[in-house]
Amino acid sequence: MTNNTQAQHTTVAEIQASHLHEIRNRKIERVSTRELFGFANDIPGLEFMPIPVERHPLTPAAQDDFVFNESLVRRTLLSMACGDSIMFVGEKGTGKTSLATQLHARLNKPLVGITGSNGVDDSYLLGCKTIQDGDVKAVDGVLSYAYRHGLSCLIDEICTLRPGVLVGINDILQGDELVTLKHHGIDPNLDPKELLSLKGGMNIVRHPQFRLFGTDNTGGKQSRDPRFQGVNSQNAAVRSRFTSFKVGFMSPEQEMKALKGAAAAFAAKRKLQTSVSDFNIQAMVEFAFRFRKAFSMSEASDNISFREIKRWAIKLMMYGDIHESFVDAIYSNLEESDQVNAENHFEATFGTKLQLPDEYAISVASQADAFTAGNIAKRA
Ligand SMILES: Nc1ncnc2c1ncn2[C@@H]1O[C@H](COP(=O)(O)OP(=O)(O)OP(=O)(O)O)[C@@H](O)[C@H]1O
Ligand SMILES: [Mg+2]
Repeated sequence: MTNNTQAQHTTVAEIQASHLHEIRNRKIERVSTRELFGFANDIPGLEFMPIPVERHPLTPAAQDDFVFNESLVRRTLLSMACGDSIMFVGEKGTGKTSLATQLHARLNKPLVGITGSNGVDDSYLLGCKTIQDGDVKAVDGVLSYAYRHGLSCLIDEICTLRPGVLVGINDILQGDELVTLKHHGIDPNLDPKELLSLKGGMNIVRHPQFRLFGTDNTGGKQSRDPRFQGVNSQNAAVRSRFTSFKVGFMSPEQEMKALKGAAAAFAAKRKLQTSVSDFNIQAMVEFAFRFRKAFSMSEASDNISFREIKRWAIKLMMYGDIHESFVDAIYSNLEESDQVNAENHFEATFGTKLQLPDEYAISVASQADAFTAGNIAKRA
């Protein structure tokens, strides 16, 4: 018996029992957590994970080169075991979204996601009424569907949601066993004892495997960082319903491993006969750390993320030129003041001055002067 049956007088306990029955009937295997995440050692108390044998179609594709942080994975797995709603907070490009998806990939857990924006409202998350074949029908949103069927739901970029939207899902955030959808109407003649038996009804019994994940740059808080001024801050009561984890930059060693892996994965996928040398991998990571240090000392206005150095490594393989790949992957996106910083850090790292392409190196004034001088010479 599930939420979708037509049985009469179903109780919450019966639906929960049917969920457990369904879970127990799945074929699972015990897999070493160390092997699952590529750690050097076992995680005490979490040596093995139960992994469904059959791949769920909604399990994200695994990124084999993903580098997991052992402590973060351990605490996240233990919080997932408690049924917590989990928020990954951190700088752009530190791997918040991919940590959520890659955890699910390794655990073979189905995940549905939605990227936040100003336009996302209750109906995206919890559903709405719609017309189908001339009839009014209530449909689920991403979140209520996941709650009903035991999927994980990832809401990316929480800070872009209007503050009231998350307040409207406080019951789901805190893991209530039974939630009531607001958009459903109730047939006034319906016996209340039959409410839970309705197919796709307004009352949803939490599936024990449902988990909610969020990602955010500020953790839903007002930030003193000028890069995040004006983002929506979330109600403190909403934030208190999440277990939040800071996702920081990888250590230099981890970042080199991840960068090498990302470059190799790209080359293999495109069947490229090229790679990024260990020297360049190390230098790219060194450049990123020099820049991040400058940012931490308020000498730069933004950070360099792993996303950007990954693009640099890929462009290097495509372009075959460290200068051009750097300019297109990183330099052109920087604020002008940071471009000066970047040139200095590039030179300090590679021991050679950054060669800027024509669009930066040649000024309009010098082109105009040369062009005019040539024309005058021709006319003379
Ligand atoms: N630990 C890691 N190992 C390997 N690749 C990683 C790791 N962390 C991030 N990446 C890669 O870096 C890129 C950026 O990661 P992701 O999009 O998850 O960052 P994010 O923190 O969600 O960024 P944003 O705040 O901009 O949404 C992706 O291509 C991802 O695969
Ligand atoms: Mg993200």
